[in-house]
Amino acid sequence: MAEKAANTVETKTAKAAETSKGLGIDDMAVFCKKKGFVFPSSEIYGGMAGFFDYGPLGTEMKNNLKQEWWRFHVQSRQDVLGIDGSIICNPKVWVASGHAEKFGDVLVEDLKTHERFRADVLIEEALRIHADGLSPEDLGKLIKENNVKSPKGNELSNPRQFNLMFTTNVGPVQSENSKAYLRAETAQIIFSEFKNVYETGRIKLPFGIAQMGRAFRNEIAPRHFLFRCREFEQMEIEYFVHPDKKDDCMFIEEVIEDKMNILSVDMQTKGQEEKNISVKQALDKKIIQSPWHAYWLAKELQWFARYGANPDNLRIRQHGKDELAHYSTDCWDLEYRFPWGWKELEGIADRSDFDLQQHIKHSKKDLSIYDEETKKKVVPHVVAEPSLGVDRSFLVFMFDAYDDDKERGNIVLRLHPKFAPYKAAVLPLVNKLESKARAVYDSIKEEMTCYYDKSGSIGRRYARQDEIGTPYCITIDFETLDNEEITIRDRDTTAQTRVKISDLKETMRKLINDEIKFSEL
Ligand code: GAP
Repeated sequence: MAEKAANTVETKTAKAAETSKGLGIDDMAVFCKKKGFVFPSSEIYGGMAGFFDYGPLGTEMKNNLKQEWWRFHVQSRQDVLGIDGSIICNPKVWVASGHAEKFGDVLVEDLKTHERFRADVLIEEALRIHADGLSPEDLGKLIKENNVKSPKGNELSNPRQFNLMFTTNVGPVQSENSKAYLRAETAQIIFSEFKNVYETGRIKLPFGIAQMGRAFRNEIAPRHFLFRCREFEQMEIEYFVHPDKKDDCMFIEEVIEDKMNILSVDMQTKGQEEKNISVKQALDKKIIQSPWHAYWLAKELQWFARYGANPDNLRIRQHGKDELAHYSTDCWDLEYRFPWGWKELEGIADRSDFDLQQHIKHSKKDLSIYDEETKKKVVPHVVAEPSLGVDRSFLVFMFDAYDDDKERGNIVLRLHPKFAPYKAAVLPLVNKLESKARAVYDSIKEEMTCYYDKSGSIGRRYARQDEIGTPYCITIDFETLDNEEITIRDRDTTAQTRVKISDLKETMRKLINDEIKFSEL
């Protein structure tokens, strides 16, 4: 529902079939499976569309990604508190939020094969226009007028609305009364816990509540690997402000000079490309209306850039009126240049007081808070809701890290050390050095994820680590026995330097935390 796109604008980028590296999404899926990052779920039984299992390396990397998101957005801020809510909750939550009634996409059926598709996606592919957010009637008209057919060339049914919420039954009696939903976004649990967090958190407006965890959507046509799944994870913040102080962003100076690739509604209507301008310019020219909105957009870009995403592959795009979700008054998507075009990576919506008001109405509980200054009760507004998919972020970092290094003759996965599944690999040059190498491995294994590999030529072992993103290889050679020094090899440059074993742990800590550069060793 939040993933809408302007129907007036030509999808220039849908034409872009490949990334600059020539790596398509299917190639990425093959790579992820081959190296143990991600597997299709239950593959031995033929798999299940829209479900994936993270393998040993993917699990490490995903955990690292989530941990760094949490550190940046929650632990390093005084104004954001975290929760970890349940996946199933009272179904009234979803009635109040509007999901039970309205959370859907428009479906069409191939009248011959009975395969089902998202009507907007078929139209986007056939006519090269954005169609997300259009009503079933408008989509039906476009299909008729342009004679759009199914991918197999057959007639299509009339489009109809399809609700994406997964349902289940809770308790031993299965009836309409025991029906419950799997959460379709983590956000609603934040809203339903708003008062508890406020009352126990000793916090004042403005403040945010963050959560990360699983969400479930019965997508009509899951596709593009991890991009559109039926089970995925989100990392979300609801940022609450006083309704009379929506423009008072005390952190704006932190980001005011940051530059971003911006594509406003106005620019889209004029058929313009995104422009690289500063937050200051965007606010001065009223391209972005709210300083809070600008602040969170810039912060999100900062987070991606800090961990190795290429800023040239990121832009922010404003939603047109017809693509805004029912709860949203303004929304900007952070988009990434995926191999098949610019696509939503994160939605950052102004949700106003829509959700809290809905929960006040449906629960009949007072969710307002007391404003000491005016001595009045107020219902806070969500001025920005950074809502990011873990799995889409995982793809972004993988795409931007992937480098088919022809000179080296192997793939180099240039992941940020913090995200790398293994921070180091310990490699004895020959088997005779095993006991020394084991001792080195044992001395650092508690501090960082570390791989031990004694098989194959040293070149082959370096290549294996390059391919899974290990930033540093630690080699033990005969000199190590004499001088207690090992060699550290840098994945990105292949440069090597010698370090005392007694300094290894500290050196590695500094390298991983970006406190020193390899060239400074
Ligand atoms: N609370 C607002 C919300 O859920 P959304 O745009 O529907 O907004 C937010 O979802 C983010 O969740 C998306 O930008 C995307 O990264 C991720 N996401 C949504 N649907 C997804 C799916 N089917 N598969 C993978 N990620 C998805």
